[in-house]
Amino acid sequence: MIIQLVVWPDDRACDRSWLMDQVPGASGIIVMLSDTHTAFSLYSHKAAGPNLRVISTMSVGYEHIDLSAISQRGVKLGYTPDVLTDAVADLSLMLALMVGRNGAETMSLVRNGEWPNSPWSPFGFCGPQLSASPVSPTRTMGFIGFGRIAQATLKRLIPLGVTHCIYYANPSSPPKPSLDAELMTKYGLNSVKRVDLDELAKDSDVVFVLAPGGEQTKHLVNADFLGKMKKTAVLVNTSRGTLVDSEALATALHQGVIWGAGLDVVEGEPQVTADHPLVKEPRCVILPHIGSATLETRLGMATLAAKNLLGGIFEEAMPAELNL
Ligand code: DGY
Repeated sequence: MIIQLVVWPDDRACDRSWLMDQVPGASGIIVMLSDTHTAFSLYSHKAAGPNLRVISTMSVGYEHIDLSAISQRGVKLGYTPDVLTDAVADLSLMLALMVGRNGAETMSLVRNGEWPNSPWSPFGFCGPQLSASPVSPTRTMGFIGFGRIAQATLKRLIPLGVTHCIYYANPSSPPKPSLDAELMTKYGLNSVKRVDLDELAKDSDVVFVLAPGGEQTKHLVNADFLGKMKKTAVLVNTSRGTLVDSEALATALHQGVIWGAGLDVVEGEPQVTADHPLVKEPRCVILPHIGSATLETRLGMATLAAKNLLGGIFEEAMPAELNL
């Protein structure tokens, strides 16, 4: 069988007009996170037509796809779990460290040629230490969402002397006491416990936001949540911007309600300009959604997306098909 391959030539999301010209008659399409128009335009304009068997997204998240439209049409959906777990966990740890150690503010001083006159003042640029120490012998890591990436992040925190792990999971998911016990033993932790959002906010030294996006999780981190966090706590979001109320976070940072925030994702991205209130906060480290951006991981994601596409086209098993 011969496959005709049509490839958008640039390293950016394809133009809508190009897509609409190319897609009629396609059996499968690979899309990116940024192709928010794809699922809607395909179905509302019936652009792809009845040949379409599979949409393969080169992402683990799939909130940009209209799942009910896809399942009604009997179209399969492939996605890319697992292959990006390590890269996103690495970045989550990096952000937690950078925020605690004043990465954003101190780097911009040096970049602007403003090396402080007295850099080694006894308490200059001091922040909360992520590693356990005689002063802070217990370290509690909180996770909103406790799937693969959260657990990989926890694993990276263990050598730093973390003592407690608490997490909030979707209330409709069953408790997993055996997983909690297994992780506690494996990592020598004092406790691993599923908690409600209030307890998570109050007890965590770092809160890692690692749950899927979408309406269900919108603004789980809001003014109320932030108000309950420790003054020295750090918030890290490497999942989706919609989970954190940006305005509430900017206010909390500005008023010193929490120590700082590390964000790889921001509500409303990519429209995040220099005058965004979060960009202006010195204790906010913001990256432009690069969690999975390592050469190794993107190659893995692209390969998996291609394999999913071929599986869907040839009606064979797809390595990572989402159950619709
Ligand atoms: C995903 O794949 O959903 C990630 O956000 C990409 O970094």
